[in-house]
Amino acid sequence: MTSITILGIETSCDETAAAVVKHDDDGSQILSNVVFSQIDEHAAFGGVVPELAARAHITKLDKIVEAAMADADIGFSELTAVAATTGPGLIGSLIVGAMTGRAIARASDKPFVPINHLEGHALTARLTNNIAFPYLLLLVSGGHTQIICVRGVGDYERWGSTIDDALGEAFDKTAKLLGLPYPGGPSVEEAAQDGKENRFHLPRPLNGEERLDFSFSGLKSALRKTATELDVLNDQDIADLCASFQHAVTETLRERVGRALQRFSKVENVEEPVLVVAGGVAANQAIRKMLTELCKLEGFTFVAPPLHLCTDNAAMIAWAAAERLQAGIATDEDPEPRPRWPLDEQSAPLVGSGKRGAKA
Ligand code: KG4
Ligand code: ZN
Repeated sequence: MTSITILGIETSCDETAAAVVKHDDDGSQILSNVVFSQIDEHAAFGGVVPELAARAHITKLDKIVEAAMADADIGFSELTAVAATTGPGLIGSLIVGAMTGRAIARASDKPFVPINHLEGHALTARLTNNIAFPYLLLLVSGGHTQIICVRGVGDYERWGSTIDDALGEAFDKTAKLLGLPYPGGPSVEEAAQDGKENRFHLPRPLNGEERLDFSFSGLKSALRKTATELDVLNDQDIADLCASFQHAVTETLRERVGRALQRFSKVENVEEPVLVVAGGVAANQAIRKMLTELCKLEGFTFVAPPLHLCTDNAAMIAWAAAERLQAGIATDEDPEPRPRWPLDEQSAPLVGSGKRGAKA
């Protein structure tokens, strides 16, 4: 096999990122991985503001690409290809990354490889842990909550997805409601440490249903109602609300992922059953502990890539492109960026999402 070196670019949401990944007979290597987080720009608004995100990508991306190339100590002529996320994500942000990637590719006379952001998350565990297909992926971030059976490069089966809020979004909205700082996940987790998880019983939406989908908006409404009934919230109330919320989502994940593991046990050609977790919510210790125990119980190996590769980054985009090139999958070099781009376009629309054909 020849050596493949890819420059990857990621700008689908609020991280401006560039990375260089190399793959050859000796294995895979991240030569550089530069991420600039826009958290400070959006903190005052309690969430990502699309217009601000696109502007910040425009201002930062050139420097981030320059830094990634310098860290990797290579020139554009040494690249095999240039890859960028072309969906799903915020349209203005996607356009910045896709245009920049394509321009660098054209100017250096290299192919451009458009990458689905979710495919980047889905394949990261093969870069970090060299795991074999098929495996099960739980993706829990600010934008996505999905259970995916990863069968091969470009071969994904969505088994479950949220019909409303993403799990990270539910953490962020909980924090905002309780006056805790953005991003909400770490603030809620920290407050929950001093709280009683059984003080408030919050709902576990879609529990016990045959499908493996999620719903978090009812939980958010129940939390708002409980908080409103308390009137003035003291620190202990906030801690108890956070602990009860975290407990409810952890139990919900346990029920849904538990059934997904059992379903995966019936999949053929599995040498070693593996559950991979990706996305920012994977940083949550209570969720990690639950997944570790669940996998042990069900005989699965639990793989959690290092956190900086679980959250949004460009190494995963470069790696997905390397996987595609290796697998010989042809891609359209001139695609339109796509705000919605499900990994499994053939699957039926998600029932209950209220969106026709909505899946991502
Ligand atoms: O993957 P990510 O960095 O970015 C995208 O969503 O694209 O995920 C960010 C999300 C945010 O919603 C944040 O609140 C959540 O991950 N998060 C957490 C924790 N750390 C980050 N949620 C729960 N517990 C955490 N410790
Ligand atoms: Zn992501």
